[in-house]
Parts: sequence; C-alpha cells; structure tokens
Amino acid sequence: MRMYDIIEKKRDGGALSDAEIGFFVDGYTSGRIPDYQASALLMAIYLRGMTPEETRLLTMHMMNSGDVMDLSSIPGATVDKHSTGGVGDKTSLAVVPMLAAMDPGHTFVAKMTGRGLGHTGGTVDKLESIPGFDTALTDDAFLSCVREHGASIIGQTGNLVPADKLIYALRDVTATVSCIPLIASSIMSKKLAAGSGCILLDVKVGSGAFMKTVPEAIELAQAMVEIGEGMGRRVKALITNMDRPLGRNIGNALEVAEVIETLQRRGPADLTHEAIMLASDLLELTGRFDHNEAEARARRVVEDGSALAKLKEIVAAQGGDVRVIDDPSLLPQASLHETLCAPCTGFVAHIDTERVGVASAELGGGRLTLNDEIDHSCGITLLKNYGDPVECGEPIAVAHANDASKLTCGLATLAGAYTYGPKEPPVEPLLYASVT
Ligand code: URA
Repeated sequence: MRMYDIIEKKRDGGALSDAEIGFFVDGYTSGRIPDYQASALLMAIYLRGMTPEETRLLTMHMMNSGDVMDLSSIPGATVDKHSTGGVGDKTSLAVVPMLAAMDPGHTFVAKMTGRGLGHTGGTVDKLESIPGFDTALTDDAFLSCVREHGASIIGQTGNLVPADKLIYALRDVTATVSCIPLIASSIMSKKLAAGSGCILLDVKVGSGAFMKTVPEAIELAQAMVEIGEGMGRRVKALITNMDRPLGRNIGNALEVAEVIETLQRRGPADLTHEAIMLASDLLELTGRFDHNEAEARARRVVEDGSALAKLKEIVAAQGGDVRVIDDPSLLPQASLHETLCAPCTGFVAHIDTERVGVASAELGGGRLTLNDEIDHSCGITLLKNYGDPVECGEPIAVAHANDASKLTCGLATLAGAYTYGPKEPPVEPLLYASVT
C-alpha cells in the first residue's frame, strides 16, 4: 500500500477502507509516514469529508494506537464527561465530585482530562493551581482513588491515543482543526480509550467554541454519539451556549475558587445550573435513576455540602492542599489587578468569547503555544456578562496578572471583546439541544 494512493483517493472524494485508514494511522504514529503526506491527507479529509463508517474506522484505529484503560476493577457504573472546550468552563471540577457524592458506592468517575491550549482552558491546568495536587498518578493509584473515593481526575497518560497527539499537533498548524470527522475521531478515540461505560459530551457552540453554529454542533454531536453507541457505550450530547463565558472567572486558580463557591451554594447562576444539568444527565445515563431522581440528587449534594466534602476528599487523595477548599485565598494570587470600565451607558450586547479566552492567556493564564508556561494566578473576573446593563464608567471586569506588559496587552484584548448596545439583547438559552 502507498500513502500517495490513499491521498489521491481522498483528494478525488473516495471513501477510504479499513486497511487504508489503519495504514495511515499506524504509519504516521510510528514515524514511517512523513508530516507532508499526513498533512496532505488531513487537508483532503478536511475538504472532502468522511462517511460515518470512515469516521468510525479512524476512531478505532486511533483508539488502538496506544493503551486502552481497563476499568473492570471498578465495582459499579463508570461515567465520564467531556467538554469540547470553552472559556470559563470549569464544570468538570464541579461535576466530578457531585457525581461521586450523588450515588456513592455505585457510580464512579475515572476522569482523564487535558490541558488548555489557545483560548480554551484545561481541567489539568486548573487542578494544578491547587498546591501539591498530583495529576499524574500511576494507573494503579488512579484506579484505587476511583474505587476508594468514587472519583479521580488525572491528565491523559503518556500512551493514551498517541496517534491523536501527533495528528492533533499537525492539524493545529495546517488549518485542519475545525473538521467534524477529525474532531469526532479525536475526541471519541480518547473517551473510548479512557474506558467509561457512560459518556456525556458537552458540545459548546458560539463565539468561544470550535463550533460556531448550532447545526454544526448538532452534526458533531451526532457523529460522536453514533461512534460511542456503536462501541457499546451509553452516550448523550448536550449542545450548550459558549457565546458568553461561563460563570464569572476565567483563569486557573480563579476558576477553582469559583467551583468551591458553587459547591458552597454561592456560585453564579449559569455555572450552578449547568453543573446540575450535566451531573443529573450523566447519572440518568447510568440507567440507575430516572431524570427527576437524578436531578434531585444533583441539587441535594450541592445543598447539603456533600459535593464540597467529596471535592476535599479527592484533593486530599491526590496530594493537594485541602486547606484551599476552606480558604481559597491560599490559591495562587496575582500581584497586579486592573479594572476595565464601560465606555458608555447601555447593555452588553455581545461578548466575543474567544477574545476573552485569548485575553486571559495573554495575561499569563493560558498557553498561546504548546510549550508556554502558565501562571495559575492570572486571568479575568467578569463583573458584567452578556445582557447586563452598564453605566458609563462602571467597572465591568478585573484583569489579574503578574507582569505589567502582559496586563496592558490582556486588558486591551479584553476591552475589544465587549460590544454595547442601547437595548437589552435577547436572552440566549444555556442549552440549545440534546442528542442521543
Ligand atoms: N478537542 C479534541 O480533543 N480534539 C479536537 O479535534 C478538538 C477538540
């Protein structure tokens, strides 16, 4: 088989066979196929698309390119939640302890998660703002934490879907990221390799997401649900709003603090609502409870403090400083803070959410390239979000940084993310659709 022929076939709109897709994935992962040929094939896929069967085959070959997690030692339902990426999306940090507290001894969360890149945040980076928190447990330590405490969150282990690491990095520099078959196979290969039986996909849509329109997001969700169900997993996708940052805080330590507040019932309404929705849908997916009971349990664990206690337990089990849960001021704090004020009176008519994420990264809170160091204390506190009324000169956001030039740069980007209008803009739903 020759890579040249595979590229030519896809270039001309053909459907690739199992053997051809396997040849590409294995060859590229092992270094036999050079970047220039892999890039050409990715661009041909980007332009020509893939059939559902090709997307499924690509996912299987990617999943099998490395280790596949064996969760058979977990004595109950295993659940996982994945967000396609957003700004201020810290729901995983709330939903994981909530689920472990909602059905203790029966529902377990073995969560492998990623780092942020560009304008999107990553759960691993957020957790690492807790002093001592170990996101690189061995497989055995990870599984025993899940069995003992009901949940654990770690970074993806080195050999989980190595094909995706290589292909994603190439897509990132060849303008081939925003392609539904490539995104679906990238996400689902990792979710399937991570081993959970029930998977809830939070597909973000809007100015801060990869998917800019609801129809596109539904198409991606359908592709992923079909792949997961075809592999015998229970999968559901929610299409949720990323046309505004979620909650008030963007940036790693700031987001951890906001999750603690949310589990103390003091969190912002949108984040609280979304965390309850995700946790109840995921518990319902196990088949152990109907929707009403699952939702009642999600609300109860926030009300009675058991989700917060579970978060503390997980932080302690993974070596983190549990004092931060009672006193979030022990989280890393930035030394410079500057307030952004509204330039006119009216309403926040639009927020370019990607730009808010970029501003946070520029302040020091994110990576603009893969090898950038991040500063966990940096980021943004939004005082006004989409639809809020503002008075000229009123504070609308606070930027947090440790470097004066980064502060100036991030603040300018943040100022450009806000659009004001004379009339209150329409209320946008948090949830657009669900796909099963
Ligand atoms: N997240 C992923 O893991 N892969 C993609 O291709 C896009 C978002």
